[in-house]
Amino acid sequence: MNVNDTEVIFSILEGAGYSRTEKMEEADLVMANTCSIRDNAEQRIWGRIEVFHQLRASRPGLIVGIVGCMAERLKDKLLDTHKVDLVVGPDAYRSLPRLLEAVRPDAPQIDVLLSRDETYADITPVRTDRNGISAFISIMRGCNNVCSYCVVPYTRGAERSRDAHSIVREACDVYQKGYKEVTLLGQNVDSYLWKSETETVTFANLLERVAAIAPDLRVRFATSHPKDISDEVIYTMAAHPNICKHIHLPVQSGSSRMLALMRRKYDREWYLERVAKIREVMPDCGLTTDVIAGFCTETEQDHADTVSLMDQVGFDWAFMFAYSDRPGTLANRTMQDDVPANVKNRRLSEIIDLQNRKSLERYRSQMGKELEVLVEGPSKRDPNMLCGRASNNMMCVFPATGRSKGTYTTVKVVDCTSATLICE
Ligand code: 5AD
Ligand code: SF4
Repeated sequence: MNVNDTEVIFSILEGAGYSRTEKMEEADLVMANTCSIRDNAEQRIWGRIEVFHQLRASRPGLIVGIVGCMAERLKDKLLDTHKVDLVVGPDAYRSLPRLLEAVRPDAPQIDVLLSRDETYADITPVRTDRNGISAFISIMRGCNNVCSYCVVPYTRGAERSRDAHSIVREACDVYQKGYKEVTLLGQNVDSYLWKSETETVTFANLLERVAAIAPDLRVRFATSHPKDISDEVIYTMAAHPNICKHIHLPVQSGSSRMLALMRRKYDREWYLERVAKIREVMPDCGLTTDVIAGFCTETEQDHADTVSLMDQVGFDWAFMFAYSDRPGTLANRTMQDDVPANVKNRRLSEIIDLQNRKSLERYRSQMGKELEVLVEGPSKRDPNMLCGRASNNMMCVFPATGRSKGTYTTVKVVDCTSATLICE
């Protein structure tokens, strides 16, 4: 999501006559696009700002800017204590050229207004990916859920869906430029809903429209919400070979008591039923998830419930985090962050160990299968090998036999690690 926002920012700045440099030492303006989701993401940025200031000492006149969620959340601290020149929140990127004109050493500029309707629909992002094969397309912004641990609704504002036609146009445009895969992005794609006077477009409708652009354009999406993912979306995925069979479905916890405190609006049984439905309709669908260890009041039993759910489902991969108390969230205001750090970390290690075993099992289950992959280019580890993802999102490496990137090829899985399928 942040990468895509950066691409929007590049587009706005290029339109105003700025150009990009790969070398920070050459720049007249440096900005960091920031994330507030966990405290360690913010801590990294404070260090980064120090580096920018050192650069400014040798390059007087250098403008230092902070954009994104930290700008929204910590505007005063950034301006007063950290002396940055520019603070711009996620809905205010259009004002960047105007603010940059106005920046003076004694006049920092700020715009952190959140919007009800900004989706940057008309802005064509400047693609920053290196391979020209896979593009991200934002289909909505903000979030209307209030998961009690999460800062996103406060930093990125209310949910709004982008004009469906502008999304299809952008996908057609990247396809014409040679891209072979688009990933539709939103905090909760299942609640995508765009209405005009004549049409109402749901997420399933949108998936269909993007899938119809070309049979060799793959469609991916993230992130799905267990409470909102509908049978219609699952059947739409199944009906279109070019909609990749992979769902990122964050569970957060396997304990219904925790899920209620987290305000996720589903329980363990609901989640397991959604997984069963996905696997009934698409037996080969890849499933990944997010898990938080050590949320407020989490007991050993709650933790054991998470372990058993992960064991039962067998995710291909999971992003696992220790709970990080975020100022201003519901949990921060109404609950105690009472699981000691050493307990959080021990539980986190336990679920990471379990997931590593499960990933290996899941990857092993692919042995002997033939999979269609989209060639992305040389493998990072071994330039004599190519790499590319299967529909289920598993990374495959295979011998470079004259296949060029951006083409499809069928490979046979002969070996694996817990994160890569080795193929012929
Ligand atoms: N602490 C730890 N993890 C969090 N996430 C969101 N907020 C927090 C927090 N306060 C995780 C969730 C979410 C992912 C993007 O980040 O698992 O799905
Ligand atoms: Fe945060 Fe919940 Fe919205 Fe995801 S759905 S962005 S976790 S509030």
